[in-house]
Amino acid sequence: MPTSPHTTALIERLTLEQKVRLLTGASMWSLHDEPAVGLRPIVVSDGPTGVRGIAMDDRDPSASLPSASCVSATWDLEQVRRLGSLIAAEARAKGVDVVLGPTVNLHRSPRGGRHFEAFSEDPYLTGEFGAAYVASVQAHGVATTAKHYVANDSETDRFTVDVRADEQTLREVYLAPFERMVDEGAWLVMSAYNTVNGAPMSANPLLRDPLKDEWGFDGVVISDWGAVRDTEPSAASGLDLVMPGPDGPWGEALVEAVKAGRVPESAIDEKVARLLLLAARVGALDSGPAAAPVEPWDDTAIADLLRETAADGMVLARNDGTLPVEPRDGLTVGVIGQHALRARTQGGGSAAVFPHHVVTPLEGLRDAYGDHAVTFAPGLPPVDELHPFTRGTVTDPFSGADGIHVRYLDQDGAAFAEENFPSGRLGWLGDPRLAQAACVELTTRFTADRDGRHDLGFAGVGGFTFEIDGEAVSTDSLAPAEGDDPVTALLSPPARVVSRDLSHGQTVELRLTCALSLPGGFPIAMVRFGYKDLFGDPAEEFRRAIEVAAASDVAVVVVGTTETIESEGFDRPSLGLPEGQDELVRRVAEVNPRTVVVVNSGAPVVMPWLDEVAAVVLSWFPGQEFGAALADVLTGAREPGGRLPTTWPAREEDVPVWVVEPHEGRLAYTEGVHVGYRAWLKRERTGGYGPALPFGSGLGYTSWRIDEPTVSTAGDRVVVLADVTNTGARPGKQVLQAYLSRPESAVERPVSWLAGFTAVRAEAGERVLARIEIAPRAFQHWDTDAHGWATEPGTFTLRLATSAADPGHTVTVTPATGRA
Ligand code: BGC
Repeated sequence: MPTSPHTTALIERLTLEQKVRLLTGASMWSLHDEPAVGLRPIVVSDGPTGVRGIAMDDRDPSASLPSASCVSATWDLEQVRRLGSLIAAEARAKGVDVVLGPTVNLHRSPRGGRHFEAFSEDPYLTGEFGAAYVASVQAHGVATTAKHYVANDSETDRFTVDVRADEQTLREVYLAPFERMVDEGAWLVMSAYNTVNGAPMSANPLLRDPLKDEWGFDGVVISDWGAVRDTEPSAASGLDLVMPGPDGPWGEALVEAVKAGRVPESAIDEKVARLLLLAARVGALDSGPAAAPVEPWDDTAIADLLRETAADGMVLARNDGTLPVEPRDGLTVGVIGQHALRARTQGGGSAAVFPHHVVTPLEGLRDAYGDHAVTFAPGLPPVDELHPFTRGTVTDPFSGADGIHVRYLDQDGAAFAEENFPSGRLGWLGDPRLAQAACVELTTRFTADRDGRHDLGFAGVGGFTFEIDGEAVSTDSLAPAEGDDPVTALLSPPARVVSRDLSHGQTVELRLTCALSLPGGFPIAMVRFGYKDLFGDPAEEFRRAIEVAAASDVAVVVVGTTETIESEGFDRPSLGLPEGQDELVRRVAEVNPRTVVVVNSGAPVVMPWLDEVAAVVLSWFPGQEFGAALADVLTGAREPGGRLPTTWPAREEDVPVWVVEPHEGRLAYTEGVHVGYRAWLKRERTGGYGPALPFGSGLGYTSWRIDEPTVSTAGDRVVVLADVTNTGARPGKQVLQAYLSRPESAVERPVSWLAGFTAVRAEAGERVLARIEIAPRAFQHWDTDAHGWATEPGTFTLRLATSAADPGHTVTVTPATGRA
C-alpha cells in the first residue's frame, strides 16, 4: 500500500464520508476536490490517440495522432516517445492531469472493433510501445492509464462477456503488457468492462494479485466508464475509483457497508492513499509541488511530427516498382474512391478527438502533384454517414458567428440559457442544463455552394423536429440500434436526412428541436447536424472512375473501412472491404497497370486483388496529416517506414482465431498462447495456409544485406549485433526482429516468439550496426505448477529476421545468467 507519513496525516484529517466521496468521480471527466487536504479536482481525458479534453465537440480542438496500430507499425520507439511529449503538452494545455491511454489489449482476432486503438497481436511489441508511451507522457508530469485490464480484446457483449483463459495464457500473453506498464511506472490502470474467469474485472481478484501484490502497482485502479455495477465486491477488490460520477454504486451505500463492518475502513484508506499519491504526482495537492510546466507546441511542429510518424507507420505491402511516383511535368494522377475525400484519419468511439484540421488524401495528393495533375472520381456511393457542418460552413443567425445557435427551452418553451457551438458536432457531457431543459433548439443558416439536391439532416437519440425555413420537414423519434451498449449509442447515433433542391448561393434557415433521450437520466448527449455527400447515378459514377483511371498515368485507389463497420462497441462481422470496393480496385487495375491501392483501415482487411495491382500501401488510421504523409510516401519524399504489427490474412477462412462471440456468455481463449503469428506458424507446421502478409513484414524503396549476427551477453541481457547494409540507391529504414524458439521444449510454447527488435536507418550504400538486447523474460515461461516464471535449462534458437515468416539467420543462444 502506497503510504507515506504525509499521506497518512492527510487521510487522518478526513471523515469516512469525505474519503468515500473521493472514490467516485465528480463528473464525467473530473474527480472531487477536498479542501480539507488541499486537493484540487484532478481532470482525466481520453486518450489514447491524442487528448480530447472535457468537451466532445469542436469548441476545444485537439491534435489527432496516428492510431496505435499505425504507431506500432513504425517499430520505432523513438516515434512514440516524440508523440508522448506532444500528448503531454496537449494535456497540460487543456488542463488535463490524466490521459486515459495507452490501450494495451491485444489483437487476438482481427475482427476486434477496437484494434486501431491497440498496438499489436504480440504481447512483447505491445508492451514496448505501451511502455514508451507511459514513460514519455509521465516524464512531463501527466499521468497515463494502462487499459483495459484485462482480456478486453474484442467488443461483442463487452459489458457482460466472461472471458475464460488459463493461467499460462493470461500471464504470458494478456497480462504481460500490463506487467510491463507497471514496471515502467504507469500511474493508473483501468479495469475492463468484461468478466474474466467468472469475476467482473471491476471486482476481480486479478486487481489484487498480480497487479498490486506481486507487481507492486502503487497507482490507482480506475474503472471503465459505467463498468461498476455493485458496491461491496468491487469496493473489497483492488478497484480504487469509480467513473464517471457524481452518482455511482459506492457513495452512501459504501459508507453504510463500512459502518456495518462489511467492508474494512482500511480498504477505503488504501484507495484514498493511492488517490493522494496520484494527486501528488500530477501536482494536485497544495502541500506538494505544482505540475511542472510543459512547453506548448505550435501548429507547425505538431503537423510536422504527425506527418512524419504517419508516413513512418505506413506499410508498403506490395510494389512492382511503380512506387515512388515522383512529380514531373505532364504527369496525370487519377485519384479514385470515396476514402480519398472522406478519409478515416482516426478510429471511432471514445478515442476520437476533434482535430483543428484534417489533410485528406485528395488534398495531400493535389498539393504534391499539383491541382492540374490530379483528377478525382469517387466511383462508389458515399459511406452512409452524416457529415457535421464544419466551422465556417454555417452561420449562427443570432450572433452572426460561425456555427450553430443553441437555446435551452423549459416546459413553457421559454429559453433559460443559450450559447454558440462552432460546428455541427454538438456534445454535452454531464451538462445540468440538459437535465433541466424540456428541449434544446439548434438554429443555423446554411448557404448552398452549388445547384441541385442537398441532403440535410441530423443524428442523435430522442425526439426531433427538423424545420427548413420555418417548415417542419421531419418529425422523428430516433432510438439506438438494437444491441448497442450505452456508450456506442451515444457515439454512433442513428441519423435522418431530408432532401431539398437548392440553388447556388441560396441561404436556408435550419432549425432542429431536440427532446434528447438521456441515458439513465444522466445529462449526456451527442447530436450531429449536417449533410450527406452528393452522389450521381451509381453506374455512371463507377464508369467515370474507370474512365479517369484509364486516362491517367497512375491510378491511386483509396479504399477502407467505415465507422459503421470498424469502431468501438462492436466487432467486425467480416474482414471484407465495404461493398463495391474490391470490384472498383479490380476494374481500375484492369484498365491501368500502374494502379496503387491505399488501404485505409485500422486493422487487417482481406485484399483478394493483392496480386493484381502494382502497389499497395496500408495507411492505417494515420491522424490529421493523412494526406500529406501519403503524398510523401507516394512521391518518395519519405520512405513508407512501416512493418506489420499484426498478421494480415489472405482469406477469412484462414484466420486462426475467428470467434469473438461469447457462447452462453463465455468467450473461451482456447488457442492459449498461440495468438497472431504464433498461431499461423503453428498451422504452417502442419501444412496449413500462410497469411497474405506476415507479422513484421513490409517493403521499402531500397534493398538490404543483413550479415550473420554475433551474440554475447551484457549483465542479464543477451546482445545480438549484426551489420546491416543499405545496398540500394536511396536512404531507407529496415526493421530487424529477433525471434526465439525452443524446438524441444518440455512446456507448451509458441513455435517462435518475438524477443527484441530495432529499427535502423541508413543512407544509400551505408553500413550500420544493428543492436538488439534481449531481456531475461523473453526466455521464460509461466510455470503453472510453481505459479511463477521459470527458465528452461539449455539453449534456444534465435532467428534474426525481417518478419515472422523470414528464415533470416539463426544462431544458438543461452540465456544470460549475470545480473543487470
Ligand atoms: C472506454 C474507455 C474510455 C472511457 C471513457 C469507455 O467506453 O472503454 O476506453 O476511456 O469510455 O470515455
